[in-house]
Amino acid sequence: MKNNHNSSRLAPSTSKRIALITGVTGQDGSYLAEFLLKKDYIVHGIVRRSSLFNTDRIDHLYQDPHVENRNFILHYGDMTDSMNLTKIIQEVQPDEIYNLAAMSHVHVSFETPEYVANADGIGALRILEAVRFLGLTEKTKIYQASTSELYGKVQEIPQSETTPFYPRSPYAVAKMYAYWITVNYREAYGMFACNGTLFNHESPVRGETFVTRKITRAASKIALGLQDKLYLGNLDAKRDWGHAKDYVKMMWMILQAPKPEDWVIATGKTTPVREFVKMAFEYVGVNLRFEGKGVDEVGIIESVKWDVLSAKLGKECNEHNTTHLAPNTIVVSVDPRYFRPTEVDILMGDPSKAEKKLGWNREYELKDLVEDMMKSDLKLMSKDVYLKEGGYQTMSYYE
Ligand code: NAP
Ligand code: GDD
Repeated sequence: MKNNHNSSRLAPSTSKRIALITGVTGQDGSYLAEFLLKKDYIVHGIVRRSSLFNTDRIDHLYQDPHVENRNFILHYGDMTDSMNLTKIIQEVQPDEIYNLAAMSHVHVSFETPEYVANADGIGALRILEAVRFLGLTEKTKIYQASTSELYGKVQEIPQSETTPFYPRSPYAVAKMYAYWITVNYREAYGMFACNGTLFNHESPVRGETFVTRKITRAASKIALGLQDKLYLGNLDAKRDWGHAKDYVKMMWMILQAPKPEDWVIATGKTTPVREFVKMAFEYVGVNLRFEGKGVDEVGIIESVKWDVLSAKLGKECNEHNTTHLAPNTIVVSVDPRYFRPTEVDILMGDPSKAEKKLGWNREYELKDLVEDMMKSDLKLMSKDVYLKEGGYQTMSYYE
């Protein structure tokens, strides 16, 4: 879908439920749009204007703007523009708003703190205030994409709905404002406004600079002989990783609950970055060992299961024709440029409230998530092998 932004031809009045998603081009926005369309919603999404196409994740949902009765409609907008948001909400008259738009990269937020406060913090207020101003408080339910980053320097393990916050980045501080303004509008104006405090969730369409995707892309490229080494930051950081597909279902369930509340959504398990690296390489039959400490730590090839690698790459691989994976080759190093000024060392959520009251359950365990991401990235990176063999240049991104 390229340039399908035409808000003048909205779907006619309908008995179908109408959802508005901010951040529809992001990882969660794309999965949520798919999920709601399957539930027969009319889905409106807000897309930022960019100089290059930025709709890759939702292109498969494209509907020609000339077709009548579309159920997937895009609007140009930005979280920093109140008038624009208010106008879209007035036109759409949504039953449910999912506020997912944000500058969501924790490390980058240290570089752009003012913008993040505006888009991620005040942006949430703009949505709430637009709904109130337009007299939609009775009609429109609001989901706010809150985050486990709020727990930051964690005050207890695991973290639940009652754990005190201690944010550790401009991103988390901005999201803390968004969290409390959502609670305040609920209490002050009786709005159905809820926070989903979601722990890290990943997928094959995760942004390339988040650690899991960076790892699965690199492990795929290294296996295919397209990259020598993966540089990472803090290998000791621990995260509670789930699959985005499971998590967007919960966003919807939160707005279907009998009353508006705040919810922790997590797997209840935590895993170090180092272990995620091992799991990704294991998928292609490469066993790693880690040696050294701090900035001197490295990940080294211990052994290769050639049958597994051959099956995954779809060609015969052995120690003679795949020398780039020779035992004792260093494939992971630490680069301090990926360290954060203040780090969140460990996140581990307690999802028992959502399990008991909303019936939260998951389809994907961490192993399934790694497999899903590796399978997808191997396929994606294999294209580069063909391009190279055909004499074309391929891009190397430094993630
Ligand atoms: P993502 O992939 O980075 O997507 C963010 C979306 O927000 C993109 O569509 C982006 O547009 C849009 N956006 C950014 N700034 C905007 C602005 N000023 N105006 C309008 N749109 C803007 O993030 P995600 O992983 O899907 O996460 C969705 C939400 O959940 C975010 O609010 C994030 O902070 C929060 N969250 C995520 C996780 C997680 O683990 N994934 C966990 C807890 C909370 P472009 O495509 O044009 O960049
Ligand atoms: N990005 C990145 N790149 N992170 C690295 C790297 C690296 O090279 N090396 C180690 N890490 C560590 C980070 O220091 C952090 O402790 C951990 O890996 C996870 O980093 P990210 O994948 O960037 O995610 P995040 O936990 O900082 O933030 C994500 O999850 C939050 C929920 O807890 C984002 O999706 C946020 O938007 C979200 O709110």
